[in-house]
Amino acid sequence: MFDLRNLRHAYDGAEVLQVAAWQVEQGSQWLVLGPSGSGKTTLLHILAAILSPTSGTVNVAGQDLTALKPADLDRFRGRHIGIVLQRLHLVPSLTVTNNLLLAQYLASLPQDASRVREVLASLDVADKADAHPHELSFGQAQRVAVARAVVNRPTLLLADEPTSNLDDARCAQAYGLLESQARACGATLVVATHDQRIKSRMSNHYELKERA
Ligand SMILES: Nc1ncnc2c1ncn2[C@@H]1O[C@H](COP(=O)(O)OP(=O)(O)OP(=O)(O)O)[C@@H](O)[C@H]1O
Ligand SMILES: [Mg+2]
Repeated sequence: MFDLRNLRHAYDGAEVLQVAAWQVEQGSQWLVLGPSGSGKTTLLHILAAILSPTSGTVNVAGQDLTALKPADLDRFRGRHIGIVLQRLHLVPSLTVTNNLLLAQYLASLPQDASRVREVLASLDVADKADAHPHELSFGQAQRVAVARAVVNRPTLLLADEPTSNLDDARCAQAYGLLESQARACGATLVVATHDQRIKSRMSNHYELKERA
């Protein structure tokens, strides 16, 4: 599903990430583990085509991302990537429904209100369709962020620290949602975390080491 080779990333000349080779099968589920500062978020941003690596090749869904122009990267992201960031980044001025319709619009996909209703229902937030983000509990907002990440049926679903501030029950629930939604779309799931509670939850681990 994706294939990373000789990947390196440096911010202002300081190298923070090195991945010699990492290949992942479509539909598999992975945890990216590593201490704070080891480059987990950087790696997720590279996979999401938000950040271009300093060197190396990034092939996602059969596409060499380093070969794409910015407009093509935007389209690629819309079609293939669903991402749940640690800060959920829902658009505060838009209702829950319109946050999801915006995700379709940004991916140049037709507006599909029935798909939006279906996804909100599958995440048990259908009754919040007309609410604004500030009217949601954190758990509800998190489910809406997952709904937005999966509404376009991504091939790659990414989540950055989805459970760091959650109690054990909520942590298990957030995981269950990501796993089941990824399965429903046939998406590959990659979750970056330093939350040791979920280490046993997924069998595939990719460990980043702290860099000197
Ligand atoms: N935009 C940036 N400019 C400069 N340095 C950055 C930038 N983003 C991250 N870094 C640095 O790169 C390193 C890796 O950061 P990254 O956010 O990828 O780590 P992380 O593993 O996600 O950490 P955490 O567990 O705390 O979220 C850190 O040393 C960080 O300070
Ligand atoms: Mg991070």
